[in-house]
Amino acid sequence: MKINELDSKYKRNFLKFTRKAFSLLPSMTNPKILDIGCGTGQSTIELLKLSNGSIIGIDIDKKALDNFNKKIKEQNLLKKVKVMNYNLLNIKFMKESFDIIWAEGVIHIIGFEKSFKVCYELLKNNGFFVLHESIKKLEKNKECIEKNGFKLYDYFALPEGFWWTDYYKPLEEVMKNINEKNLSKEELKKVKHLKKEIKMVKNIDLKEFDCAFYILQKNKNMRSNY
Ligand SMILES: C[S@@+](CC[C@H](N)C(=O)[O-])C[C@H]1O[C@@H](n2cnc3c(N)ncnc32)[C@H](O)[C@@H]1O
Repeated sequence: MKINELDSKYKRNFLKFTRKAFSLLPSMTNPKILDIGCGTGQSTIELLKLSNGSIIGIDIDKKALDNFNKKIKEQNLLKKVKVMNYNLLNIKFMKESFDIIWAEGVIHIIGFEKSFKVCYELLKNNGFFVLHESIKKLEKNKECIEKNGFKLYDYFALPEGFWWTDYYKPLEEVMKNINEKNLSKEELKKVKHLKKEIKMVKNIDLKEFDCAFYILQKNKNMRSNY
């Protein structure tokens, strides 16, 4: 197994939730989608297939984007996907230019309040902002939803402990059999990073990792009251 694809192998287990979240949106013809923190583009490519629209993936991690660009070329998707090395907080897209903004596992990193403000500006009215987030973290920031002009359109929780049972645990198992002596410097760095992450996860209450998909809809009327 290729070391740089270790985590993406188990990340694929989450694609069924990406599909479920997409299925909860009303049907749209060729929607324009922005995927924030797209990383190596697993969900981005899935969304492209589901939507038959056009999609822009942004991320601050240049290496992940190089990997993503490689996949796009291999899968002949150059005309439909654009990948940009952008920070959400600095992007200069036209206002109200997206039908859907997708954000899996990134809004708690950027910050809820800041991200909601930027996404409100970028979305068309009645457009959708879909988040895959830790339930605990979103609960702490739920006042951001209405305050920033969104309403909760739909929601579903992932099975309890899914991040552990379907991602970190199998990853930990497979890493036990890796002989670090045979790895390149880069591969060793990746393995060490993943091991550190797993160790950290083991020391945290697993409830922190219980996540949900939140489908928010932009609503101009709500914001005018703010
Ligand atoms: C937890 S990863 C999630 C990646 C991908 N969405 C997924 O679900 O597999 C978070 C990603 O957000 C990116 N990121 C962090 N801050 C960002 C920002 N300000 N703007 C754009 N991307 C950001 C990180 O580089 C990382 O690739």
